[in-house]
Amino acid sequence: MSLYIGLMSGTSMDAIDAVLCDIKPDEVQFINAHAVSIPDELKSRLEHACRPDLSVTDYQNLAREYAALCAEVTLQLLENTQISPEAITAVASHGQTLWHAPPKQRNDIGYSIQLNDADWLSARVGIPVIFDFRARDLALGGQGAPLVPAFHQFIFADTAQTPIAVLNLGGIANISYLDAQSGTAIGFDTGPANTLLDQWIERHQGQRFDDHGQWAQQGKVNIELLNRLLNDAFFSISPPKSSGREHFNLAWLDSFIDEHYRPQDVQRTLVELTAKSVANSFQWLPKCPDKLIICGGGAFNSFLLERIAQCLPDQVTVADSAEYGVDPQHVEAMAFAWLGWCFDNKKPANLPAVTGASQLAVLGKRVNA
Ligand SMILES: Nc1ncnc2c1ncn2[C@@H]1O[C@H](COP(=O)(O)OP(=O)(O)OP(=O)(O)O)[C@@H](O)[C@H]1O
Ligand SMILES: [Mg+2]
Repeated sequence: MSLYIGLMSGTSMDAIDAVLCDIKPDEVQFINAHAVSIPDELKSRLEHACRPDLSVTDYQNLAREYAALCAEVTLQLLENTQISPEAITAVASHGQTLWHAPPKQRNDIGYSIQLNDADWLSARVGIPVIFDFRARDLALGGQGAPLVPAFHQFIFADTAQTPIAVLNLGGIANISYLDAQSGTAIGFDTGPANTLLDQWIERHQGQRFDDHGQWAQQGKVNIELLNRLLNDAFFSISPPKSSGREHFNLAWLDSFIDEHYRPQDVQRTLVELTAKSVANSFQWLPKCPDKLIICGGGAFNSFLLERIAQCLPDQVTVADSAEYGVDPQHVEAMAFAWLGWCFDNKKPANLPAVTGASQLAVLGKRVNA
C-alpha cells in the first residue's frame, strides 16, 4: 500500500478537505475523507491576508493556525479510518492561496503564495509533508495553475473514447479538455464561480453560500450588468490563463454595481456570469466534448448546473463526477494526494500545454516528520 493524504482548501475558503487514498502507478483508490470548516474568524483573517499589509508576525500566526486546522483534519481522518500515522507515506498539502500572480505576458515569471507551515504540520501529525506545488511551474514561466488537469486526465480520460471535459467549480472555475485517443490534455481557469456567489450572499443574507442557488433563482438576470462583467479582459484572453480572488472579488463586482440593483438580481446575474463564461471558454477547446463532468463544491449548486447545461451546445451531456464514481467534493484533495505521490516518484506533474511552463517539472517540496 502507498497511502497519501491530500489536503485542499481553495479560493472559496470554506473548508479544508482531506482525502486518504491508496495510490498505485495506474490507479488512485479512495479510502476515506473528512473535512473541517474554516471558522468565520479565521476565514476573515485569511481574506484580509490577501491584502499586502500584513506583518510578519501576523503572517506566521496565521500560518500556524491554518496548519493546526490541517493537523486536526488529518488526525481526525486517521482516527475515523483506524489507521496510524506511521502507515501514511505523506500528507500532500496545497495550503491556502493568499495571492496568485501568474505571469502577465511571455517571458514574465509570476508567483503564487500559499500559506502553510509544513514543518509544524509534519511535526504535529508525525507524517512527512509535501507542499508548495505551484512554485516550480511558475519558475519555468508557467501559470502555476491549474494543476488538476493532469489528475483529471489520470482518473477520467482513459475510459473515454471521445473527448470529454472536466469542470471544477471551486471558488474559481477551471476546465480540463481530455482526448484519450490523441493524448491531448489542456486546461485553464474560466473565471469566477463560488467565490463571488459566496461573498455576495454573505454580504446580503449573512449566509456562507447559496444552497442549491435558491436565492439566485428569486432574482432576474440583469443583462446590462452581465455584459459589463463579461467585458472583463480575463474572459477574452486565450489560455494559458489562471485567476483568483485578488482579481475576482467584491471590490471588482462593486465597481460595476448600481445602488438600485436588487441584491437577488445580482446573485442571479453572477450565476449567469459563471455559466456564460464556461460556455464561452469552449471556443478554446480543439473540439466540442460530448461530456462535461462537474466536480468541486459548485457541483452541489443544482441551479448553477442547470444554467451551465442550458448555455452549452445540446450535444454536451452534463453530469457531476459522482456519476463517474468520484464524489465532486473529493476530486481536488485526491488530486493533491496524487501530486504528492508524483513528487515521491519523481514524476513530472505539470502540463506545459496547460500552464505555459517551458518544460515538464516535478512539483513540490518535502519535509520529513
Ligand atoms: N449545496 C450547495 N449549494 C450551493 N453551493 C454549494 C453547495 N455546497 C457547496 N457549495 C459551494 O461550494 C463551495 C466549496 O467548493 P470547493 O471546496 O470545491 O471550492 P474551493 O475551496 O474554492 O476549491 P478549489 O479552489 O480547490 O477548487 C462553497 O463555498 C459553496 O459555494
Ligand atoms: Mg473548499
